[in-house]
Amino acid sequence: MKKEEKFGKFGAVMAMAGSAVGLGNMWRFPYLLGEYGGAAFLMVYLACAMLIALPIFACEFVIGRRSGMNCMGAFRALSDGKGIWGGCGMLFVVTCTIILSFYSVIGGWSLEYFFKACTFTFHEGISSDELSGIFSGFVSSIWPSLTGFLMFVWLTVYIVRKGIKSGIERFGKVAMPVLALIVVAIAVYVFMLPGSLAGYEYMFKADFSKLNGSVILAALGQSFFSLSLGCGCIITYASYVSKKDDMIKHSIGITVIDIIFALISGCAIMPAVFSFGLDPQAGPSLVYETLPYIFSRMPFGGIVAIVFFGALLVATVTSSISMCEVGVAYLSQERGYSRRKSCRIIGLCTILLGSLCSLSFGPLSHLTLMGKNIFDMCDSLSSNLLMIAGALLTVYFVGWKMKREDVYDEMVGRGTAKSHAPFFKCIYFLVRYVCPAAILVIFIQGLIDML
Ligand code: PHE
Repeated sequence: MKKEEKFGKFGAVMAMAGSAVGLGNMWRFPYLLGEYGGAAFLMVYLACAMLIALPIFACEFVIGRRSGMNCMGAFRALSDGKGIWGGCGMLFVVTCTIILSFYSVIGGWSLEYFFKACTFTFHEGISSDELSGIFSGFVSSIWPSLTGFLMFVWLTVYIVRKGIKSGIERFGKVAMPVLALIVVAIAVYVFMLPGSLAGYEYMFKADFSKLNGSVILAALGQSFFSLSLGCGCIITYASYVSKKDDMIKHSIGITVIDIIFALISGCAIMPAVFSFGLDPQAGPSLVYETLPYIFSRMPFGGIVAIVFFGALLVATVTSSISMCEVGVAYLSQERGYSRRKSCRIIGLCTILLGSLCSLSFGPLSHLTLMGKNIFDMCDSLSSNLLMIAGALLTVYFVGWKMKREDVYDEMVGRGTAKSHAPFFKCIYFLVRYVCPAAILVIFIQGLIDML
C-alpha cells in the first residue's frame, strides 16, 4: 500500500469542516428551522448533533486515524478481515459516488448562477416570473445544465488530483476562512435591511407545539447529512490526520463550526426573505429563484449576488472533494492505481450517473420509480438508506467489535490527553447504546419513506 501524505493541524480541521459545511448548511438548515418550529427545532437539532452525530463522527475518526487507510482497508485492517468487515468498506465507496453524482448536479447549478451573477443577469427590473422561467428553463435544459455539471465535476476532480496537501488541504485552508467572512458579511448586511426582524423571529421563536416524532427525525437526518456521516468521508480524511492531533478537540470543533455555519447562513438568508415579504419555505427554489429576486431589488444587490453564489459554490466544492476522495483513496490504495487514474475512474462514474440525474429534470423526467425521478431516487437511496446503514456499521464496529482499550487509546491521544477520559466514557456509552437505537429508528423511517 502506498504511504499517503498527512494534513497539518489547521488543514485537517479546515478540510473536515469543508466537507461538513455545504448545501446542507446554506439552504436546507434555515428552511427546516423555520418549518419545524424555530428555537424548538434548534434545541432538538443541537441535542441530535451533540448526542448522536458527534459520537458517530468520533467513531469515523477513530476508524480512519487508527488504521491510516481508506474505508475498505480501514475496516479490514482493524477487524483482521473477518466476516463482513473485510468488504463492507465498498458500501462507503458506492454511497459516496452516488452522492457525488447528484450533489454535483446542484454544484453545476451554483456554478451557472455564479456566472449569471457575474454577468448581472439579475438586473433591477427582472420579474419573479422571469426568474422562475430562467431556473426551470435551465434545469430542464440538456446542454446548459450538463455543461454546468461537467465543469463542476472537472473542478472537483482537478483539486483532488493535486493530492492531499497541495490540493485538498490547500484549498480548504483558503476557502473556509473566506467562506466564513463572506457569510458573516452578508448576514450583517441583511441585518440592516428594513423588516428583517421578522426573519429572526421566524427562525428563533420557539413553537413547541410543532414538536413531534417527524421533527426529531428531520433533525437527526439533517445532523447526519450536515456532518457528512455514514459515507466514509470522515474515515478517509481522518486517515490523513497526524497521530499527534487531539481527535476529541477536532471532533467537537468541527461539529460546532458546522452548527455555527448553519445558523449564520440562516441569518444571511431568512431575514432578507422576510424583508421582501417572500415565501420562506420555497425549498431549492429559495436559493435559485427567491434570492436572485431579492438581489435584484436590494442596494448593491449585483455585488451581493456575486459574493453569495461564489460562497455557495465554494461550500459545495469543499464538500464534493471529500466525496471524491473516498473513491480515489480506495482505488489508489487498494488497487494500486495512480492518483491520476483513480481520479479519472471516479470522475467517469460520477459523470455517467450524474448526467442521468441532471437529465432527469428534462428529457428523462418520465423515467420514474415510485413517483421519484432518477435524481430523487439517488438522493433518497443514499440519504435514507445507504448513509444510515453506513453509520450503523460504523457505530457497531467501534462500540462492539473494536477493543475498548484501542478506542480509548485513540480518543485520549495514546494517554497524552488523560483529561479527555470523561469525554471518552460519555462518547463510548452513547456509541454502544444510544446511537445504534437512534440510527435504527431513522433507518426504519427511511425505509417507510422510500416505499
Ligand atoms: N455535509 C455536506 C453538506 O452539508 C454534504 C455531504 C454529505 C458531504 C455527505 C459529504 C458527504 O452539504
